[in-house]
Amino acid sequence: MAKDLSERQMTKDEKTAPGTGEPLSGEAGGPPSGKGKGRLDFSVLGRVFRMLLRVYPKLVPLTAFCILFCACCSVLPAVFQQKAIARIDAELKAEAAESAIAEPEAAAAAEAEGTEFISDRIDLGAHWSAASKDIVRLVLVLIGFYLLSIISSTAYRLLLAEITQGFLSDTRKKMFDRMQNLPISYFDTHRHGDIMSVYTNDIDTLRELVSQAFPQMLTSGVIVTGVFFVMLWYSVWLAAVVVIGVALMLTVSKKFGGGSAKYFVRQQKSLGKAEGFIQEMMNGQKVVKVFTHEKKCTDDFKKLNEELYNDSRRAHAYANILAPVIMNIGNILYVVIATVGGALLLIKTPNPSLQGLLRGTGIGVVTIDIVVPFLNMTKQFTGNVNQLAQQVNAIAMASAGARRIFDLLDAEPESDEGYVTLVNAKIGDDGSVTECEERTGHWAWKHPHRAEGTVTYTPLKGDVRLTGVDFAYVPGKQVLYDVSVFAEPGQKVAFVGATGAGKTTITNLINRFYDIADGKIRYDGININKIRKSDLRRSLGIVLQDTNLFTGTVMDNIRYGRLDATDEECVTAAKLAGADDFISRLPDGYSTELTNNGANLSQGQRQLIAIARCAVADPPVMILDEATSSIDTRTESIVQSGMDKLMEGRTTFVIAHRLSTVRNADVIMVLDHGRIIERGSHEKLIAEQGVYYKLYTGAFELE
Ligand SMILES: Nc1ncnc2c1ncn2[C@@H]1O[C@H](COP(=O)(O)OP(=O)(O)OP(=O)(O)O)[C@@H](O)[C@H]1O
Ligand SMILES: [Mg+2]
Repeated sequence: MAKDLSERQMTKDEKTAPGTGEPLSGEAGGPPSGKGKGRLDFSVLGRVFRMLLRVYPKLVPLTAFCILFCACCSVLPAVFQQKAIARIDAELKAEAAESAIAEPEAAAAAEAEGTEFISDRIDLGAHWSAASKDIVRLVLVLIGFYLLSIISSTAYRLLLAEITQGFLSDTRKKMFDRMQNLPISYFDTHRHGDIMSVYTNDIDTLRELVSQAFPQMLTSGVIVTGVFFVMLWYSVWLAAVVVIGVALMLTVSKKFGGGSAKYFVRQQKSLGKAEGFIQEMMNGQKVVKVFTHEKKCTDDFKKLNEELYNDSRRAHAYANILAPVIMNIGNILYVVIATVGGALLLIKTPNPSLQGLLRGTGIGVVTIDIVVPFLNMTKQFTGNVNQLAQQVNAIAMASAGARRIFDLLDAEPESDEGYVTLVNAKIGDDGSVTECEERTGHWAWKHPHRAEGTVTYTPLKGDVRLTGVDFAYVPGKQVLYDVSVFAEPGQKVAFVGATGAGKTTITNLINRFYDIADGKIRYDGININKIRKSDLRRSLGIVLQDTNLFTGTVMDNIRYGRLDATDEECVTAAKLAGADDFISRLPDGYSTELTNNGANLSQGQRQLIAIARCAVADPPVMILDEATSSIDTRTESIVQSGMDKLMEGRTTFVIAHRLSTVRNADVIMVLDHGRIIERGSHEKLIAEQGVYYKLYTGAFELE
């Protein structure tokens, strides 16, 4: 599969204007679905939260509880302050009352002047000690709460680290699992760099959402609600002034926040595009250099980078303006509350409050023990509204990122309705087939018949028949027309024909990389749609047109064909493929590390390793798509004998432009524009003196 990716990538390189990186298909290219354009997508956020809960069903509520507790503790000082001031105020009033009794004349004179009179004759210390006892008790309760708050805030921070990283790791795993199950066509129509960006940038937005935005929203949400309740509890008038101020703040933050959210979403998309371009240019470095497109390439990147710069700049500009604007509205509100509170205090305005309503203490008037805590509550309230507004950006970005992640997770996986499986088998003397666990070198198709409740075994022979197959990669652009191929067990079937005639496509269909539109493909008499895809592919060994090697040693790459193969089996396979000779001459022999798709090897050497990899898998059916195209003719003749041994007793489909390679095939199919125009053995086709004859003698070229 990984090979096919690069095959598509190559096709893309060839068919796109160099440097533009535009996808082959007409699609926008890449996972961004374009949904949630600039608006907060709450359904996506809800889904993130549900996923989070599914991964950590206990830790998430525990963390939320700790956050809630800390938030509630933050509301307490306002209540404490009000209670302490009210207590001191009450004692002051009591002192004044006692003074009036002790020295009525002096008190009356002071009242006439509008000042408070406190007599020296009363015991001032008694009032202070009465108040201080209550205040100390309040302080102790507050300290108790704060100690608990420190513990719970430490706990939730530790929990958050675990939850966030665990959740991201789980999401990455889900994405990778899904990617492994996607059909090849998905990779044909999505830019690879853009998919990469989902794993890096978009995942990062989730990190911010889970580790910062969610907890901050919860904390600020609770504080805002709690403080607002406390405000209403003490004074409806002052709370109303704060509400007006906050409405103003929200209007402003909607204006700026909405703007930044839109650009944050765009920034995520631009980032994906830029990353896709960089990846494509890295893969195509040689082509870029050969055509001296470095400047064009740089210009194209400049455009993408400019786009990214503009989107990011706008997003952050809006976000950066938002904070000081909101903060200053908060400051203004503070002054307004101080002025309005002072005025209400002076004119002794009636003070309706929740407290009065619920406790039945009546309306009363605005007093100092209400105005002072209100100032602090206003600061706390606006500070947290500011925090909430700040999170809008993180949430907008996360909802864009999460949308792209979900697009990947929700991509339609490769469907597999196959129920016929491939099993190891023992063949009895009478030809009977019995299933077994161990590797016997024999396989059988296990075919359960649900209706009768029976199971039948068909020995794997390698009989592959295509009948009247029509196929199109893209609807309306048919590639194969009424193709029929009959490969009997052990036969070598060759496809020859011009570039783009459909040779690789036929092998793609046998593999079920794509499903056919019309016709039938049968494998040992079984419709391949009924065979489980993984088993079908296990029974086919493929050496693809472009070799794809993975990072690891030469030995690891050969063993990729069969993971349980021993070192000896890998070396034998390499010998069979004619690869042993050059591998032994590598600096570290079989332990030589390969990187970047085997960039430190020649193309022909890569092909030899790919053939060895196929040999070690020991499959009953083999597909060799230009397997020896990059190997020189002398080496090819050496490899050929190994290949012939490899093909012995196996059904083999061979595609080769070098007609000498396919001479000894049992049957040769000549393809032209998706149709088989001639078929037969080399001798028969030569005798017929048709297209093949002309091709072979060099008198004709297919178009
Ligand atoms: N993934 C794809 N999506 C759309 N069209 C495709 C895709 N792969 C191949 N094609 C088209 O299908 C046709 C047959 O391609 P195919 O790869 O089978 O040719 P081929 O005979 O193997 O050629 P070559 O000898 O160059 O390998 C071509 O016209 C090609 O443009
Ligand atoms: Mg091909």
